[in-house]
Amino acid sequence: MPAIVLIGAQWGDEGKGKITDFLAEKAQVVVRYQGGNNAGHTIVLGTEVYKLHLTPSGIFYPDKLCVIANGVVLDPAILLAELDNLRARGVTTENLRISANAHVIMPYHRLLDELEENARGAGKIGTTGRGIGPAYRDKIGRSGIRVQDLLETDALAARVEENLAEKNALLTKIYGRPPLRAEEIIAEYSAYGARLAPYAADTSLLINERLARGERVLFEGAQGIMLDLDHGTYPFVTSSNPVAGGACTGAGVGPMCVSAVLGVLKAYTTRVGAGPFPTELLDEKGEQLRQRGGEFGTTTGRARRCGWFDAVVARYAARVSGLSHLALMKLDIMTGIGPLKICTGYRLPNGTVLTEFPLSARVLSQAAPVYEEMPGWDEDVTGVREFADLPPAARAYVLRLEELAGVPAALIAVGPEREQTLVRGKIFE
Ligand code: IMP
Repeated sequence: MPAIVLIGAQWGDEGKGKITDFLAEKAQVVVRYQGGNNAGHTIVLGTEVYKLHLTPSGIFYPDKLCVIANGVVLDPAILLAELDNLRARGVTTENLRISANAHVIMPYHRLLDELEENARGAGKIGTTGRGIGPAYRDKIGRSGIRVQDLLETDALAARVEENLAEKNALLTKIYGRPPLRAEEIIAEYSAYGARLAPYAADTSLLINERLARGERVLFEGAQGIMLDLDHGTYPFVTSSNPVAGGACTGAGVGPMCVSAVLGVLKAYTTRVGAGPFPTELLDEKGEQLRQRGGEFGTTTGRARRCGWFDAVVARYAARVSGLSHLALMKLDIMTGIGPLKICTGYRLPNGTVLTEFPLSARVLSQAAPVYEEMPGWDEDVTGVREFADLPPAARAYVLRLEELAGVPAALIAVGPEREQTLVRGKIFE
């Protein structure tokens, strides 16, 4: 049963959209299984640039089944606008299915995300403000509203009223805001329900039927391992599980169906929002990476923090997700940046060097990166199509990164287009 899980192995924004699009060609089913419209994928098809937040990247292949699975939190207005936009540009959306069990982001989730974030003051997480954390909190707290609730107005009305009893108390008594009106929310969301109804399905059943037929399924992760609720740099994380295991709970499939786990990493590191980032460059080099790499958020437009490649993070990602392959992105951005530094460990004030990612935020905040240096290259690599044709220094850099991560780099990107992808190993058999 050849399913592969594709995940971000840093702090998100690694370029997963491009690799999903590249691999989707060989899959029959593409599944989004966690996160929501906090994610943003940019896909370049010739002269067309698409920015997707919820729709699986497989949507550009009309013959693929695209699934938004139960683990996603769905903002219906955002999804419907995205689908309208795709259709207006000639992309069919008929092959999309949405889990009836996916939880819905409600207006109070977005409001509370913003109010809670402001209340955190100096301890701000730097969330995307899309209501992601509050929506997952209601899911875990068993008060969430699911896609199936939108399909029945009576059920929806009851759920909204129950929720507003609590949310309006929070809004008015804690945050001094006006209460939300149940009737307006019920009317708005039942209208969304009517438009989403043709897409709603038991997506776990659909995916498992396809797997049983021997079809190839691509699970498309959002965010990255270092933003994982359990394994990331808590509390500066998102509220879902971007690790590979998240695909099983988030889509309703068993782990035995997964034959490969592909970790996507940039040839350097970026992070959006607050939280520890050991190899961050606050100097000219960081600015150079940001400008050359176009490191500004797809979702919020925020400038991304930039730094050197962190092999401690790569090894940690390989461990907690059992990576079988790497996809190394944006190698072209490193042209002319050299000499290149790679972080191989963290030095603590007492001189100890850690080679495993520490679980304690306090320890991490005291850690200074230990670097090894490699020569850079000045040749343009964007036209290269075979690994062997890369400049020797670029090849040596890739080989060193995979050696330090302990995982082979099967795909290497030298530009944003589909064909700017060097293939070194088979992922789908
Ligand atoms: P939230 O997911 O909006 O709650 O944000 C929590 C943290 O995750 C913040 O630091 C965000 O910047 C970060 N984050 C969420 N989604 C993404 C993403 O797709 N790429 C990069 N960072 C993200």
